[in-house]
Amino acid sequence: MKKIVMTLALLALATVVAVPTFIYSGLFNVAATWEDPRPVAWLLHSTYSNSVAARANDIQVPENLGSREQVLQGARNFVAMCSGCHTPPGLSETPGSAGLNPPPPDLTEIIPHRTPAEAFWVIKNGVRMTGMPAFGPTHDDEELWALVAFLDQMSEATPEAYTTLVAQAKRSAPADDGHDHRHGTEADTTEPGGHDSASSEDHGEPGHHEAGQSSTSAPASNHSGHGAPGHHDQGSPSQPAGPADDGHDHQH
Ligand code: HEC
Repeated sequence: MKKIVMTLALLALATVVAVPTFIYSGLFNVAATWEDPRPVAWLLHSTYSNSVAARANDIQVPENLGSREQVLQGARNFVAMCSGCHTPPGLSETPGSAGLNPPPPDLTEIIPHRTPAEAFWVIKNGVRMTGMPAFGPTHDDEELWALVAFLDQMSEATPEAYTTLVAQAKRSAPADDGHDHRHGTEADTTEPGGHDSASSEDHGEPGHHEAGQSSTSAPASNHSGHGAPGHHDQGSPSQPAGPADDGHDHQH
């Protein structure tokens, strides 16, 4: 009995010492460049699948899912918001998608193995610690179902089918589809001080972004005022044009 108590006490002591040592020593490598060992990958993936399946159970799939209009709307939003990570058929990876860990799956391959409710849940809520964002906070359910409808249509699609559908979707785009927030293609160079006004308003704290906002005479470039000249200056109009081929031929 005494032996058991001693062993448990020693184990408890070891834990109390080991855990803070591990946390404070910086021993754990948080880099995205190494793969999880197999058992860890299995543990994480199983936890993920079961968590999504359990939560998707309660989701009611709309009866009219898959109308032409919905698929086209989904296609437009997929190009704007998802294709940078989930590489579409026939296109090459972006630096972002190539560097993510876990890698964003090819959705045309994955989607036949998921229910519409599961896909909807993931798109709405995101997946923590993977890079998959939650689109629920910025989009209503109707827009998210349109993405699911598009993905369903795209299951095992060829590059030609993808290109054709996206071209049709672009042609049929309404003048204003409600997507006035920045979708990653255009840099806002109209604001003095650089910082995108829509997002800085949301912070609510005056002076929070003072480095970018204090100087109204600053030239219109992203992140001006952050000190290092030339740092993050791709948006600057004064930047000389790059070479015809800078080696970055992957889809940006
Ligand atoms: C910043 C990169 C990124 C963006 C942008 C992104 N995703 Fe993802 N997505 C991921 C990653 C990484 C995963 C893998 C999560 C995992 O392994 O658990 C994922 C997973 C998913 C899954 C689940 C796949 C499965 O195995 O069940 C769906 C569905 C999905 N994304 C849809 C979308 C849609 C639709 C959009 C656009 C509205 C989008 N994603 C935008 C990175 C991204």
